[in-house]
Amino acid sequence: MTQDFVIAPSILSADFARLGEEVENVLAAGADFVHFDVMDNHYVPNLTIGPLVCEALRNHGITAPIDVHLMVRPVDRIVPDFARAGATYITFHPEASDHVDRTLQLIRDHGCKSGLVFNPSSPLGCLDYVLDKIDMVLLMSVNPGFGGQSFISGTLKKLRQVRQIIDDSGLPIRLEVDGGVHPDNIAEIAQAGADTFVAGSAIFGAGRAEDPNRYDGVIARMRTELGRV
Ligand code: DX5
Ligand code: ZN
Repeated sequence: MTQDFVIAPSILSADFARLGEEVENVLAAGADFVHFDVMDNHYVPNLTIGPLVCEALRNHGITAPIDVHLMVRPVDRIVPDFARAGATYITFHPEASDHVDRTLQLIRDHGCKSGLVFNPSSPLGCLDYVLDKIDMVLLMSVNPGFGGQSFISGTLKKLRQVRQIIDDSGLPIRLEVDGGVHPDNIAEIAQAGADTFVAGSAIFGAGRAEDPNRYDGVIARMRTELGRV
């Protein structure tokens, strides 16, 4: 198992009125990626942020990888816009695209890293056929649409399955988990095979409660827990 652990705070739980500062603070506290949740009030019952906000973060001086998680349908039309806006990774839900292989290729053709996102009840069916076209598998450990939900424990089994598939392939594919990740369960999740951890409410919510401008404490606790794996 890789020990190259990545912590990716979801800005869904950030203070949007101070977004640039929030992202700077969380990166200064040791976060690796910026997880950017895009919701369209169609594929999921919520509406969030789009390419303009991604571009604004880049213009603000954010250089860390931006991990764009598309919860939108259709997918293809918005991919070039996010590439231009400075996305590093673009991941999408296979149910939301009519032609998954084509969408993966489109993302890479626009110079971004590509990934597929599987909902808690979604089968991994298409994964075997597109492994050579993806840089990340994202397993949802909550139903997509909202922050602050509880981790669905069945994800642990699925993580072990995908870890095996990735290891057998020998390809450098990240295995990300999204939803209900906290310092209390991050070690167990890492043991099941995840190497990239999205956390929204645990970092921005709980962290802010400790100190409104610093997220060092909660990220350090996550790293300590990961150090035990
Ligand atoms: C849910 C989003 C998540 C969400 C995670 O649809 O994809 O990234 O923000 O939030 P927490 O960490 O609070 O479960
Ligand atoms: Zn997400």
